[in-house]
Amino acid sequence: MSTEAPTTSLVEQINAVSAEIDAATLTNAAEAEAFRIRFLGRKSGVVTDLFAKMKEVPGERRKETGQRLNALKQQAQVRLDAARNDLAGSPKSTASDIDLTLPGRVPAPIEPGTLHVLTQTLHAIQNIFQGFGFFVAYGPEIEDDWYNFTALNFPPEHPARDMQDTFFIEAPPPKGRGVVLRTHTSPVQIRVMEREKPPIRVIAPGRVFRNEAISYKSYCLFHQVEGLVVDEGVTFADLKAMLHAFAQAFYGDDVQMRFRPSYFPFTEPSAEVDIWWEDENDPDGGRWMEILGCGMVDPNVLENVGIDSERYTGYAFGMGVERQAMLRHDIPDIRLFYENDVRFLRQF
Ligand code: DAH
Repeated sequence: MSTEAPTTSLVEQINAVSAEIDAATLTNAAEAEAFRIRFLGRKSGVVTDLFAKMKEVPGERRKETGQRLNALKQQAQVRLDAARNDLAGSPKSTASDIDLTLPGRVPAPIEPGTLHVLTQTLHAIQNIFQGFGFFVAYGPEIEDDWYNFTALNFPPEHPARDMQDTFFIEAPPPKGRGVVLRTHTSPVQIRVMEREKPPIRVIAPGRVFRNEAISYKSYCLFHQVEGLVVDEGVTFADLKAMLHAFAQAFYGDDVQMRFRPSYFPFTEPSAEVDIWWEDENDPDGGRWMEILGCGMVDPNVLENVGIDSERYTGYAFGMGVERQAMLRHDIPDIRLFYENDVRFLRQF
């Protein structure tokens, strides 16, 4: 009986201290330090004092009481650590508690972007030609004289070079190598034919550059899609059929188009293609709008890349992406594409 009392009272004291630890407020560094001294202080901490009383506990209860005391000490330590962590501002959550899929906390919602109207137009053109079995090829934006002009049958000094106001990085021959920002995507024709044998059926989309006076209809950079087909027995009828199928897919089945004789050094014969654009405000009810240039690949071009022009023939075409987007969406000024004004871009 005499051994019961102190043990009971030690357990009661442990329970009382445990409740006190739970109830303590630990909202600043001073409170945390006072807590540490009161409960865990080495000399006179409450928990330390309780350990000293262990020697009064009879043998058969020592183990259990010791475990309760250790748990109490741990309880005090856990509360202290948590409070210090909070005060230091470090996260108390573990990595597995963090939900990486939650949206960020920002002052304004982040609006999803959209593809630029030129990219959308390019994809639409590309999809149509890929449906007809064309592969997509790319070439560099910085070209040399051979690819941009000479191999395409623009002889040096030929006035046709003046059709394209060129940004020269290095002067044309004989002074330099004639490094240029490509003025059209036609050099990709040469690059493809150099490395592949017919049958060839590719389109080459990309950015081109011209030293234009900037206005509502001309900009110093724009985009083109080049087309090239080379095989045995390819004729102008194939070219007409393909471009008509394209125009129907892109502008609608009832599109009206015409081929107008033209000149390009790399095609013979050459043509420009117009489509009829209805316009109520026009006294004629509409007008012809040019959409692309095309023609049969000049035999000189085939020979320049080592393709036998007696055996193979081909056709080529090149269209401006901006031009198609302006027609399709009734956009009045080419500069709008490059201003990055979201009020414009959001409409598409
Ligand atoms: N490269 C020409 C230009 O930029 C467009 C062009 C015309 C490309 C006729 C062609 C073509 O492939 O056959 O003005």
